Amino acid sequence: MSVTIEFLGHSGFLISDGQHALAIDPFLENNPVAVKKPLNLRCTALALTHGHDDHMGDSVMIAEACNATVYAAYEICEYFQSQGHEKCEPGNPGGKIETPFGWIAFTQAFHSSSFEGKYMGMPCGIIANIGGITLYHLGDTGLFGDLKLLGEIYKPDVAMIPVGDRFTMGPELGKLAAEMINPRMAIPIHYGTWPLLTSDISAFRPEGVEVRAMQPGETLEVG
Ligand code: NI
Ligand code: MN
Repeated sequence: MSVTIEFLGHSGFLISDGQHALAIDPFLENNPVAVKKPLNLRCTALALTHGHDDHMGDSVMIAEACNATVYAAYEICEYFQSQGHEKCEPGNPGGKIETPFGWIAFTQAFHSSSFEGKYMGMPCGIIANIGGITLYHLGDTGLFGDLKLLGEIYKPDVAMIPVGDRFTMGPELGKLAAEMINPRMAIPIHYGTWPLLTSDISAFRPEGVEVRAMQPGETLEVG
């Protein structure tokens, strides 16, 4: 089994098993590096790590246009429902949801979470199993020791790790995160999008983990 991973820029991905397409944090309209427009994105499911605009930005529009099921924190799902999008599967850190493509688990993330000034619940990492592949999207987070435990429990094939510094880990701590999780492959995210975020991620060189930096619009097959 295999999946196609498309990088949407910043922290956004579209992951497809040929039948289902899962968008994670698809921030496109106000994203200076994105090459895709929100209404050109086709997905059957949409997972959000937290409520910040650079993650949740266009998600209500996308979910509505695609009639996609939304997987996110309870408070984010409440927000979607208040906007008229009822197809939501709420969760919280520690929990796991069976899905038509596999499953989604929510982990903790050390960050904050709000949208338009409103509290959006706990920020999360998303672990998704799709096409027989397990992906761990860390969301926005600082380093924490349980990354090692989460790596041992879920054994992700691919980890998407924020390394842009200031709001998340920088490249040095991101390297430690990758070594603790120990996936086959690490994709650096959340860097260089704006001048506030580091663009030099040369220190992101984890031991024993293949680093795959992706360009927006680029796709990758993982089997
Ligand atoms: Ni954030
Ligand atoms: Mn962010």
